[in-house]
Amino acid sequence: MRNDVVAVASDHGGFEMKGEIVKFLEEFGCEVLDLGTDGPESVDYPEFANLMASAIKEGRCDRGVLFCGTGIGISIAANRHPHIRAAHCRDVTEARLSRAHNNANVLALGGRIIGGEVAKDCVQVFLKTEFEGGRHARRVAKISD
Ligand code: RB5
Repeated sequence: MRNDVVAVASDHGGFEMKGEIVKFLEEFGCEVLDLGTDGPESVDYPEFANLMASAIKEGRCDRGVLFCGTGIGISIAANRHPHIRAAHCRDVTEARLSRAHNNANVLALGGRIIGGEVAKDCVQVFLKTEFEGGRHARRVAKISD
């Protein structure tokens, strides 16, 4: 597992925000694995959710951030993979609790819905918050059962 690597992926709707977050993560000292998309042309978000799921499964990173226009489509697609717990978050409280209570391994953000500053706060809190375990571990285990 690569705790020090954060993967990012987006469709065209999240492309601009992905760029902002890549810069932010690099300034923060993270190694970033950018899985695309690489330009503003229209693409299909499930393909990028699948690339994220593969990167995590292969141990190339253990956390990631996904972006699409709303954050909804790409989180739905990512959550079809049993090892992914993708949390679509619109504020920092959701980002914190997605880690503390749900042990989310992927944060999904809507590039057309939230602003860049909120997105950066969500990413920072998502990366620094530990899973609380205890009763939450029992519940998270039931998701995979
Ligand atoms: C693309 O236009 C848009 O549908 C996509 O980015 C996302 O918002 C889907 O949930």
